[in-house]
Amino acid sequence: MFARYQVAEEAGEREAMARLVREMDRELTVHTDIEESVFCLWARRLSDDIEATVEGGVEEHHVAKVLLGEIKDLPAGEADWVAKVKVLIENVEHHAGGEESELFPPVRGASDAETLRRLADDLEARKAELGAPTLADKVGLTNEQLHELATAQEIPGRSSMEHEELAATVNPG
Ligand SMILES: [Fe+2]
Ligand SMILES: [Fe+2]
Repeated sequence: MFARYQVAEEAGEREAMARLVREMDRELTVHTDIEESVFCLWARRLSDDIEATVEGGVEEHHVAKVLLGEIKDLPAGEADWVAKVKVLIENVEHHAGGEESELFPPVRGASDAETLRRLADDLEARKAELGAPTLADKVGLTNEQLHELATAQEIPGRSSMEHEELAATVNPG
């Protein structure tokens, strides 16, 4: 989505930029909700270090929410709107990188496979509660259908993705 936004921005396609930012808003709202209401609540009990990392992450979510709120109040495509979207993207990329490198490794180290599977089920259940697409909506799709959706949605790296990864990434529409 960020890569697609970058392309739209370089081409000065305001409508596409606005549409992609609305998509980012929906996806980030669901993502931070399931993280905070399911993952963070569970992970913070694993150790003091993990709890501190989780707390820092929740503050970064807060920054993203503030930015998204301000972006909604500005006319799409204006200079200040574009600047805020740029900072939002940088913030989320930094945040996601931190989760991958500093949060998930110690969490994996502190839990067993069965617990992580249950956690995944709880995350999917919360997604369903929020009315967002879940993996269950997509696992039944054939490889061909997944590739068609990924192409229509311009998912970067789609040609090298396996069935599972595609199913987790595409929006069933
Ligand atoms: Fe997060
Ligand atoms: Fe995340």
